[in-house]
Amino acid sequence: MSDQQMDTVLAETRKFPPSSEFSSKAHIKSMEEYQALHKRSIEDPEGFWSEVASELHWFKEWDTVLNDSEPPFFKWFEGGKTNICYNCLDRHLDGPNRDKPAIVWEGEPGDSATLTYAELHSLVCRFANVLKSLGVGKGDRVAIYLPMVVELPAAVLACARIGAVHNVVFAGFSSESIKDRVLDSQAKLVITADAGWRRGKILALKEIVDAGVEECDCVENVLVVKRGIEEEFAFSMKEGRDHWYHELAAGQSDDCPAEELDAEDMLFLLYTSGTTGKPKGIMHTQAGYMVYTYLTAKYVFDLKPEDVYWCTADVGWITGHSYLIYGPMQNAATVVVYEGAPNWPDNGRFWEIVEKYKVSIFYTAPTAIRAFMKWGDEFPQKCDLSSLRLLGTVGEAINPEAWIWYHELIGGKRCPIVDTYWQTETGGIILSPLPGVTPTKPGSATLPFFGIDPAVLTDGGEEVRAGILSVRQPWPGMTRGIWGDQERYKDTYWCKWDGKYYFPGDGARKDEDGYIWILGRVDDVVNVSGHRIGTAELESIYVEHPSVAESAVIGVAHEIKGQGLVSFVTVRQGFEGDETLSKALNALVAQKIGKFAMPERIVFSPDLPKTRSGKIMRRLLRDIAEGRELGNVTTLADPSIVESLQDQFNKGA
Ligand code: PRX
Repeated sequence: MSDQQMDTVLAETRKFPPSSEFSSKAHIKSMEEYQALHKRSIEDPEGFWSEVASELHWFKEWDTVLNDSEPPFFKWFEGGKTNICYNCLDRHLDGPNRDKPAIVWEGEPGDSATLTYAELHSLVCRFANVLKSLGVGKGDRVAIYLPMVVELPAAVLACARIGAVHNVVFAGFSSESIKDRVLDSQAKLVITADAGWRRGKILALKEIVDAGVEECDCVENVLVVKRGIEEEFAFSMKEGRDHWYHELAAGQSDDCPAEELDAEDMLFLLYTSGTTGKPKGIMHTQAGYMVYTYLTAKYVFDLKPEDVYWCTADVGWITGHSYLIYGPMQNAATVVVYEGAPNWPDNGRFWEIVEKYKVSIFYTAPTAIRAFMKWGDEFPQKCDLSSLRLLGTVGEAINPEAWIWYHELIGGKRCPIVDTYWQTETGGIILSPLPGVTPTKPGSATLPFFGIDPAVLTDGGEEVRAGILSVRQPWPGMTRGIWGDQERYKDTYWCKWDGKYYFPGDGARKDEDGYIWILGRVDDVVNVSGHRIGTAELESIYVEHPSVAESAVIGVAHEIKGQGLVSFVTVRQGFEGDETLSKALNALVAQKIGKFAMPERIVFSPDLPKTRSGKIMRRLLRDIAEGRELGNVTTLADPSIVESLQDQFNKGA
């Protein structure tokens, strides 16, 4: 967060209590009720979570709720046998939810489909049988690179059903990113589509996958979903390796019993950026994640049988896993899934979808809200948004101005807003208002969810008003570690306070009401449009280019994206830092990660500011990039570098 953004947040004093009408119908109705339940969840986590787990289906009940004998490797519900897919689908088939829409899908070009819980169950069973026919079984890793079509949640649920480990790769990632993830996880199957739609353009997904898996010997088969696009686009099918999903599915039964899985069997891997050049495969297991996403979805979104719930995140990110599929479906919600961009064919698409399907709960990212604000009030104003009763945000701190716009223009001043703070690693929401309970303050994720005991600490572990966020005790949805690298897991998340507290990597402030305000990352991870990008990832890509000597990538405040990236690059002797090189470096980032990771600007400079011990002073680079007064530069090895950097920066501005 920039100093200016921080000042705005610190000055924010407005409070918005929920209406008594909302509270009276909510699952949790009062602050007293929340506080009592929260206290219980902290003092008796095993009692609390076993009661929650009892609301779900188990083939066999657990022996122990929490095994904390080997911290930080916590285990939940050991001895229990369950299946999260069963809890999302089969559990609803005996009652009125059987014929309730589970997924209401809309494609970008306007095609649509509705699947009831019974129909989704059949689709998932058929999909699971296809997976089995390709030799996929329990514990096998399956990479999924699909657009937001119905087959995406179906593929995810089908993996869960048979105990295969899904690894969804967001369909904006490049071939090389697919390759890295497939190789690291040793996936034996890749599921993709021939293509998808994005902003009126065809994304040739199969081609991207082909380039990605070329050198991956572990991949035995590629399963291809047909998106149904009439226009011509390039792709090919490799004999023996590639199979059309619809051809294999045609011969399959729509009955496939859910595998009775151990509580700690792995459910999925999801790669996320960290502070090194290599993304980490975050692991989640069946039961703890299941119980946690079930309860957070139920209480934070106050899900009721009549709700139409729309989470706009792509399934390629953790939000799509926990709050498009697993959380809402365990609660038998009707979930809207939209394939395309918010501004296609025009800037009003989201609001038309809200009106068309009578969406009652809408969950999106602050970066999207800021884009809507910029596009103009007339787009939401043209639509009937009166079906909305609750709004949510996720992915980054929301600036109060965007919060107020969301509250007034979208929520008509009547909808509570839940600002939900969490991460890929936490599995589910850990800080959030409860919509019927918590008076909200624009920009604050407010209070902890049940089972979460946060503290704001100094590096030394003292509690302070403003410092580093920590979580004091384990919770069921937390990650079980990093695939293939548990040392890195310990080092990254548990070494800060002698292994006593979980370290999420964010700065935070606690105000006089005990509300928590997230102040942004304290490590070298930048949150661009709510997506984590490790600066080290870009830096290691740049130095692969023969003309680059060194680089430092930093995050700077960005009007729409929250944060954008600025790359400072020094070139080797004899090379020119010019537009051609700039383009080449951008192309390299697009090729290695994806276009979404390209920086706002590349600034070439003869040198980087360093301390006498050779450490790059990133803070100074941020000050330069955000046009701030520079403080003391005498600790620099070469103070004259600052002027030349400022010149370079201003030249391109
Ligand atoms: O910095 C925090 C920010 O997003 C990070 C987690 O990113 P990721 O694992 O990709 O998950 C994003 C969706 C859950 C956090 O470390 N973040 C997420 N939600 C918020 C947030 N920062 C402030 N307020 C939030 N509500």
